[in-house]
Amino acid sequence: MKRETWQTKIGLIFAAAGNAIGLGNLLRFPSKVALYGGGAFMVPYFVALFLLGIPLMLIEWVIGRYAGAKGHGSMTGIIGSFFNHSYGSRVIGSIGVSIPVLIVCYYIYIESWTLGFAFLSLLGKMPQPVQSPDYKAAMEPYVSFFKDYTEPSLTALVFLVITLAINWVILQRGIVKGIELTAKYGLPLLILMGIFLGFVSLSMNGWKGVEGLLFIYTPDFSKLSDPQVWLEASGQIFFTLSLGMGAIATYASYVKRNEDAVKAGLWTAGLNEFVEVVIGASIAIPAAFAVFGALAVPELAKEGTFRIGFMTMPAILMSLPFGSLLSTVWFFLLFIAALTSSLALTQPLVALLEDEMRWSHSKAVNVSMLLVSAGAFLSAFVPGFIDDVDFWAGTLMLLFFGLLEIIIFVWIFGVNNFHRELNTNSFIRIPKALVYFFAVVSPVFLVILLYFWGVTKLPEVLSQTEPGVLIARAFVIFVLVLIAFFSVESRRRYLAGPHM
Ligand code: PHE
Ligand code: NA
Repeated sequence: MKRETWQTKIGLIFAAAGNAIGLGNLLRFPSKVALYGGGAFMVPYFVALFLLGIPLMLIEWVIGRYAGAKGHGSMTGIIGSFFNHSYGSRVIGSIGVSIPVLIVCYYIYIESWTLGFAFLSLLGKMPQPVQSPDYKAAMEPYVSFFKDYTEPSLTALVFLVITLAINWVILQRGIVKGIELTAKYGLPLLILMGIFLGFVSLSMNGWKGVEGLLFIYTPDFSKLSDPQVWLEASGQIFFTLSLGMGAIATYASYVKRNEDAVKAGLWTAGLNEFVEVVIGASIAIPAAFAVFGALAVPELAKEGTFRIGFMTMPAILMSLPFGSLLSTVWFFLLFIAALTSSLALTQPLVALLEDEMRWSHSKAVNVSMLLVSAGAFLSAFVPGFIDDVDFWAGTLMLLFFGLLEIIIFVWIFGVNNFHRELNTNSFIRIPKALVYFFAVVSPVFLVILLYFWGVTKLPEVLSQTEPGVLIARAFVIFVLVLIAFFSVESRRRYLAGPHM
């Protein structure tokens, strides 16, 4: 069975950009920026982009291409292939499949809200705006609307089922006819809608939205000694660039061997950053600044990641002319961004089941989506589930796995080997000294971050023992064990089956 490859170069870039560009850019980024003081967040953010983001992006691209040529697209097979497929290496690699699977369980549920809200906006079913300068009063109807919707309401469950079905169908159609095609239409549409809404937001109230941009882009060095800001900024870089979980490497495994991995990696990072620090920065925060003023913004951010996107934004947009339409565009933009990312989060498991278990594509997708659906329903019904899984898989494990990737793909593979692979077909020559530099600096940076994470955050998280949180942890362990089992079990099949 021959593995698929991306059909066109542009399709490959769009698919990879669709992978990276998601709710992280348009919801998570504005909330974090607002919460951590605008310009104070952006300094560590850019440091982390260059010290962790770009190097890991290139590592995942180069290694994904390398392993794809040997028939492996999941971290189980990729890491395994560096260690003769020993059981231990495959189990460690399997963590890089569990992380995206765990993330997609709640990500896809949030994705379904965006679809639901887009439809409700279009049908004129959003609450009517309250004209009030007081942001609390203006947002009140939208806060209770969101609470009722995510209870979960029957509507929320219907849209969850629809969202799962859409992902299921696209994944069934495969790399070219499914993922690449979706990205080819989705990405340009996303960028157009994003630019349009950025324009609407900045120009609100006589261009008062521009103050929001200034809040983000006035550098503030006063918080650089606060480890929390560094952690959050680095975590955001991992999350937004889809790094530290093999999701990029899986996509990279479907390129042709002669593809330029460096160029593709730089395009992926570049497009994602454009949709984050230009488009993402120009919508939610400027709109909130223009309408509710500077003081309201950090207060809104304190109310959680969903406050600004799902409550503040509709409150603002609905009060404008053509409000329902604007609100539709906002949520549809979020949906397209989320869809191309949820496909990318599920594909590593599909690749594991296909490449290693040697199941048919159809069976691999069905089993993957059954697991994701179960996790998505848990996200809907179990209180605290989303936050807890987001902490373990969406924040902590990413940093660990990123560190592991550098150690295995650069140190153990060897700087010489990695450097040779890196420069194969690359449009620019990357000097070996630079590889050495990153091979030392990035891991040191990560170890320091993980240390502070352990000191500042871990005790607080471990002290939670509500039933919902315990269910979430049990689910995390269940997924880790299940995927480790597939990875061990498939070793036999892999060694027995016909392979390259
Ligand atoms: N990068 C995506 C976002 O910004 C999330 C994601 C993570 C997607 C990992 C795929 C893999 O929303
Ligand atoms: Na992103």
